[in-house]
Amino acid sequence: MMKQEIQVFASGSSENKPVLFIHGFPFDHHMWDAQVNELKSRYYCVTYDVRGLGVSPAGDGLFTLESFVDDLEFIINNYKLNKPVLCGLSMGGYIAFRCVERMESKLGGLILCDTKSEPDTNEGKLKRAEGIKNINSDGLQKFISNFVPNCFAEKYIKDFSKGYNEILSRSLNYDPAGVKGCLLAMQGRTDVTPYLSGINIPSLIICGEEDKFTPPAAMRLMSKKISNSEFAIIPGAGHMSPVENPGVFTKIINDFLAKHFV
Ligand code: MLT
Repeated sequence: MMKQEIQVFASGSSENKPVLFIHGFPFDHHMWDAQVNELKSRYYCVTYDVRGLGVSPAGDGLFTLESFVDDLEFIINNYKLNKPVLCGLSMGGYIAFRCVERMESKLGGLILCDTKSEPDTNEGKLKRAEGIKNINSDGLQKFISNFVPNCFAEKYIKDFSKGYNEILSRSLNYDPAGVKGCLLAMQGRTDVTPYLSGINIPSLIICGEEDKFTPPAAMRLMSKKISNSEFAIIPGAGHMSPVENPGVFTKIINDFLAKHFV
């Protein structure tokens, strides 16, 4: 069965409140290592590799955002996660947003990091198409080497080069079909903005201070459309805020979880 090939990693007791982490593009579940290490004694922490990335199979690479939400629903059902808190970053946030729109009653809370509710603009769609074309003509490595540095604050790349290079080298080795499939899925996603005012579960919006893709001003505006949401900025971090400033990031989500779910 295709869905069973998704690689899922669970840490902590399944008796505890589940937190289901969804990573960004083009990365894998390891981006949540610091959070899982800290939270697993109090929460049931579940991470996975989105289809086509990390160690999850690419198959034919014909993914849609809907198929990513189908995978997420499969994990929720298969692992019997009772009203999990979804924690998604960027592409993971797109998946979480669409999941809450499709099945809010199955979820307990939302943590949306460095992401947005709008679909790609025309310019964004053309960039995705160019990315696919470039992978086809020049190979994956060039695409990844150009894309990944923009996900981090320059200071992180300089000061934490070992950690940065480990992440980069994993991404360089993904299946090109999987990376192209994610680009297509993101290009075809819907606009979740009209649903923001309907979100009723506790929500936390987090943004890296130096995020170039989804800057703090845009994320603050978005958070205002979600009633009773909380908003936090992670100092010194770019788009990969949980990796770049894990101490502050983890404390903020820990406080949010303790406030609403203990
Ligand atoms: C991500 O971090 O998941 C991507 O930058 C999202 C995107 O390309 O839209």
